[in-house]
Amino acid sequence: MKGGSLAGPALDRERLAERTRSVLHRGGPGNPDVLLVETDSGPVVVKDFAPRGRWVRRWWGPWSLRREAKAYERLSEMAAVPRLLGHLDEAALILEYRPGTFLSRSLADRLPDDFLAELEKSIDEMHRRGVVHLDLRHRSNILADRDGRPILLDFASALCFDVSTRSGRWLVGWLGRLDHRALRKWRIRLARVQASSGTGSSEGSRGARRPM
Ligand SMILES: Nc1ncnc2c1ncn2[C@@H]1O[C@H](COP(=O)(O)OP(=O)(O)O)[C@@H](O)[C@H]1O
Ligand SMILES: [Mg+2]
Repeated sequence: MKGGSLAGPALDRERLAERTRSVLHRGGPGNPDVLLVETDSGPVVVKDFAPRGRWVRRWWGPWSLRREAKAYERLSEMAAVPRLLGHLDEAALILEYRPGTFLSRSLADRLPDDFLAELEKSIDEMHRRGVVHLDLRHRSNILADRDGRPILLDFASALCFDVSTRSGRWLVGWLGRLDHRALRKWRIRLARVQASSGTGSSEGSRGARRPM
């Protein structure tokens, strides 16, 4: 799928450098650079393999981005997942920018009480749509937005299944356990911090949605 097949922002390779506002994540030899880019319709995120070596740029990157785009398309109706806006070319895809903060222990006492319940709902919804993420243990793949709602990112390791078939549903159930295991990890980590900082659910202000 090339640029223009989705109703994305007007952006091309020539203008990418001048429009790049910051590097959100500098990729290693086999990973994309993740850029925050200004367009006429607002800021977007570009995942770009073009600066990588020839093999990665020509083969691994496009293959990986096609798989990732497929997962983003499947999840396009989900509030917790950024929209896929298009492809710059075969080495780069364009995503809706969803600012947020990495899920971490230091964030624990600023999250609303229902954050983990919302995260679980999002994981279940993703599974109902036939997508397993498989990399939710990584703290950089879950953000909390400014209202404390979860954002799921990075579907490079995700797998998509046809949930209209029995085998597809079985595989989602089986592999989906890894996503639930990651959720359990976050539950334990965040609970430990909340317990040790004494911010239990008895505290009146917790549970309210407030800007992060
Ligand atoms: N749509 C987005 N909105 C806001 N930040 C994003 C978005 N996509 C990626 N990022 C930021 O870039 C980082 C790397 O992106 P990610 O998709 O995880 O790339 P990688 O596959 O290299 O891990 C994320 O941890 C996040 O900080
Ligand atoms: Mg990532």
